[in-house]
Amino acid sequence: KAVVQQLRRGIASAGMLAPHLQKSMRDYLNLNRHHVAYRGLRRGRQSGREVLCELKEQARLRTLDGTEQPFSGLAWDRLVPPRPLEQLWGQGSKFKSCAVVTSAGAILHSSLGREIDSHEAVLRFNAAPTEGYENDVGNKTTIRIINSQILARPRHHFTTSSLYKGMTLVAWDPAPYSVDLPRWYRNPDYDLFTPYEERRRLHPTQPFYILHPKFIWQLWDVVQGNTQENIQPNPPSSGFIGIVLMMSLCEEVHVYEYIPSLRQTDLCHYHEHHYDAACTLGAYHPLLFEKVLVQRMNSASQHDLKTKGKVTLSGFSGCIP
Ligand code: C5P
Repeated sequence: KAVVQQLRRGIASAGMLAPHLQKSMRDYLNLNRHHVAYRGLRRGRQSGREVLCELKEQARLRTLDGTEQPFSGLAWDRLVPPRPLEQLWGQGSKFKSCAVVTSAGAILHSSLGREIDSHEAVLRFNAAPTEGYENDVGNKTTIRIINSQILARPRHHFTTSSLYKGMTLVAWDPAPYSVDLPRWYRNPDYDLFTPYEERRRLHPTQPFYILHPKFIWQLWDVVQGNTQENIQPNPPSSGFIGIVLMMSLCEEVHVYEYIPSLRQTDLCHYHEHHYDAACTLGAYHPLLFEKVLVQRMNSASQHDLKTKGKVTLSGFSGCIP
């Protein structure tokens, strides 16, 4: 509980975590599965506006466009949607106001559904349902970010489930930090490439993109560059990826239950009976550090944070250098 209170004030660090979470952080640092070799600097404390502008400059939203090997050799330039993600809703036009709905258990009993659906565009994650939870999470879905497990693991029924129909899909998978695309293609964490090709052929009109691993690791670099301690050398969470994605597409972004409200709970997801504090504070993903950075950019009140778990962020158009 104490670490979440500190997080709401933006001053949390790994030393405040429960011993088992600190241990798994250390284990991931020693393992360094993705061969991270950070060569960037470590900044002193930047203001929220400075962080916003750094994200805008350093982490350019990018999806696979089929022009690089091995994808060019596989004619992916004709497989990917003809319009880039940033231009899907009109060239140069942005959503006025967007909602990012995390899957945290703390959103249960929030009655935030109506507020969430009032935003022009709504982003959700992975297998998070709306059916049966409308009062708390709303029912509009404009974009769904999905990790490669959703595409690859049979239990998610990616091909047939209605969860993944009628919206824009954005998939990702952790590539090596060096962003060696041929190596990633041969050896992804979970094979997302085959189901991607199949769905593009079956449903060519559904906008469906794969994030460029360069974008993912640029985000990681910004989080590490703004953190004094060594963060887990693993990709940022889908939550952080989704927040930054919406900062590119929207003038204003409202994030729900990323930094927990007073409803804070160890319930991992609102739609599952699984309890684990790591879902909120991080084990594999550098979640705590992502959240500290997002808190710094927040312009909503402490009251909104405590009662709604809501953070309000300016989109990238708000960074005027
Ligand atoms: O678990 P999953 O990645 O599907 O959840 C979507 C995102 O919601 C996470 O990547 C994380 O950023 C956020 N989340 C959270 N606290 C939780 C569960 C999810 O901040 N308890």
